[in-house]
This record gives sequence, C-alpha cells and structure tokens, in this order.
Amino acid sequence: MAASMIAPLAPVQLLERSRRGEPIDAASVAAFVRGWLDGTVTDAQMGAWCMAACLAGLASEAVGALTEVMVTSGDRLDLSRLGPTGDAHSTGGVGDTTTLVAMPLAAALGVRVAKMSGRGLAHTGGTVDKLESIPGFLTDLPLDRFVRQVRDVGIAVIGQTARMTPADKRLYALRDQTGTVPSTGLIAASIMSKKIAGGAGAIALDVKAGSGAFFPDAAAAREAAAVMAGLAVPWGRKVRWMVTAMDQPIGRYAGNALEVRGAGEVLRGEGAPDLRELSLRVAAELAEAAAVEEPGKGRAAAEAALASGAALLAAERWAEAQGGDPRAWTEPGVLAEAPLRLPVPAPADGHLAALDALAVGEAARWLGAGRLHAAQAIDPSVGVVMLAKVGDAVTRGQPVVEIHARDAFLADRAVEMIAAGIRVETGPAAAPELILDEG
Ligand code: URA
Repeated sequence: MAASMIAPLAPVQLLERSRRGEPIDAASVAAFVRGWLDGTVTDAQMGAWCMAACLAGLASEAVGALTEVMVTSGDRLDLSRLGPTGDAHSTGGVGDTTTLVAMPLAAALGVRVAKMSGRGLAHTGGTVDKLESIPGFLTDLPLDRFVRQVRDVGIAVIGQTARMTPADKRLYALRDQTGTVPSTGLIAASIMSKKIAGGAGAIALDVKAGSGAFFPDAAAAREAAAVMAGLAVPWGRKVRWMVTAMDQPIGRYAGNALEVRGAGEVLRGEGAPDLRELSLRVAAELAEAAAVEEPGKGRAAAEAALASGAALLAAERWAEAQGGDPRAWTEPGVLAEAPLRLPVPAPADGHLAALDALAVGEAARWLGAGRLHAAQAIDPSVGVVMLAKVGDAVTRGQPVVEIHARDAFLADRAVEMIAAGIRVETGPAAAPELILDEG
C-alpha cells in the first residue's frame, strides 16, 4: 500500500509510541494536533504528548509536522511588499528584555520589524507581558493594523491571536500549565511557527543556555538552533542564531515593569552592559540578515543608532503607535511600582560567583511577575533588582539583590529562594562569557 494510504495512528496509539520514544509519521502527528484543535483529542491527551516530548524527545519529522499545523492554524502574513522585514526571538530567559531594546534599534537601522511574541512561560518572562506593563500598550492589534504599523512606523509587536498561530497560543498555555515547556521540538515549533506566520524575511534567534534557560548547556542550545534554522528553510527565511549564557539574569531587573525600566536605561545610553551588548548583537544580526547593513557592518551601525538617540526615538514612536505611554522609556515614574522592598544580603566577603538565574526567575514568578496557574493575572510592578552581578566584589551583608513585592509573606519566601542561589567566593570570580556560539 502506498504510504499516503496508511491511516494516521489513533490518539492512544500515538501516545503509546511517543511514551516509548518511537518515531511517529508526520501525517499521524498532524492528525493528532488537528484533532486537538477541533476537539476530538482532549487537553489531557495533548498534555500527555507534550510530557512524552519532554521525556523521550521528538523526531524531526514530528517537529516539522507540528510546525506546519501551527503555522496553518491561522492567517499567514505576506510582508514582501514592505521591503526588508525582520523578526527576532529569544528562547526564554530571566531579565531578558533584549527584544525591547534590539527591536527599536533594528527599526532605527531600517529593518521593518514585524514581531510575534509570547507571554511568560514557566519561570521566564514574556515580551507580551512586559509590553503590557507600559500603560495603555496594546499587544492584540488587528492584523491589518499590525501590517500598516510595520509599514508606517517601522515596528510592530503582537502576541499570538485567534487569527495568527492560534494553535501556538493554546499549546503555549497548555505547556505552561503542565510543566512541559522544556522540549527542544516543542520550543522550536512554537517559536518558528510564530516567525513563519508573522511573515518577516529575516529572523534572528537568541538561544539561551544555562540554569535559567530551557536548554541546560551550549551543546543542547546549539542543537535547538540547528532545528529552528532547519524549520525555516522550506519557508525561504534567512536565519541567524546566537547561543548566549543564561546562568545569571541578563541586565539588572527581572519583572515586567522593571524590565521596561531596564530597557529604557539602555535606550538612553545608560543601563546594564550585558543587556546593551546582547541588544546590539541581535540588532546587528537582524540588520545584516535583512541586508540593510553589509556583512560585518551591523554592529557599528547599531552602536551609532543607540548613541544618536535614533533607537530611543523608534521606541517612543513604537509605544505611541500601539497606544502605550512613550514616556515609559525615559520617565520610569509612569510605570507601576511595588510598595515593598527587601534586600538579599551577601553571605560573606569576596566576589559574587553565582546569582542563579533559575532562582531569580522562580522568585519573580512567585512574587506575581509570572503565572503559577492559568487564570493568574500578572502584577506588573513586582520583581527582582540585581544590585551586583557575577564577578563583582561584595562585602558581607551588602545587598546583592532587592526584592520588589506587594505582599510581605511572598517577599520573605522570595528572599529565601534567591539567597539559596547566591554564592560568594574569596578569590576573584571571572565575569562569565555572554555569547557562546553563533551561526
Ligand atoms: N518562546 C516561545 O515562543 N515558545 C517556546 O516554547 C519557548 C520560548
């Protein structure tokens, strides 16, 4: 019998094979995911499949089929008439507000930025939640307004909608609630379905490795980068990727309004060196991939756009176009502020050798910056401020971190969580490398 005549596996057969880590044909995966979208496969079955994907892995055929169903679950944008378009995505980190700096920076370089983002997942922050902490900012623009804004303002960022990758929107929320985020195949399909449906010609990926990332080390992150780059090939997109360190938080803030504050600091020419560096690199990669800068010239152009204030201007125009208060980047007083502050002190004299990104991310989620259950509303004001970074000299009792909280009970527990992730050593501790690989 010809392969095309073989009936797709029944959901329970597919789940049994997935549990055993056996390869599944693309048609069966596609039928299973479509069945979930039309209600014949239950949430419990989909959750079980995601758990099997985390524990036993997904073969490339399954990842390709899942990506295709997610891309075609809604509308797909064709932005080719808009000139050089670009989109970037981080696989998820703590304090990783790079998008909020790198996207206006890329727009200032002439890339038309058309970006689809997500909300926070597990202990990591999400661009949509961060943008919504800017008073008035709308992330669910109708698609015609999204495209017009890309054309007229040069930058627009939306979340998954009922019309664009609705399958990713649903699966994203289900994975968040079933503890099934960290699967290379599920992450790759989620990210690339948004990038492909969003229509941008050039894509820059920041694949995070380390304790606060979904990939434990650079080798796993490199493998994920290769899977994502491969998924873009049949759709004719140009992909650049970097593997970057996520053992300590990026920048000085973790939490939604706090990260907008951190992005504003970098856009104003101040701010954390690691966030600035990462943002410059992502913008440069995107500008070169979109061919608005010649190879090797993107970095200098990005630095110039930051120094001249062009990136800040692009960020202000962007916020305003999406209904947000453009002062969010320059006057942090317009952002929500938490009423309570609690320090987490250094346990000894020496150098900070570890400030665990996972501990900080979990504490921020516990404080209300992320979700512990599906219906939970985000508190934009709460989070964690990093007063020292790995490699810095500290003295016993000096605050390493400041907790911003609304509730004293939650704050006390957050202090304990973060304290367990702090290590001070007597000898000098080197500041860790930021960019581990690229391709
Ligand atoms: N970002 C996404 O968009 N999806 C994932 O699965 C992880 C990070």
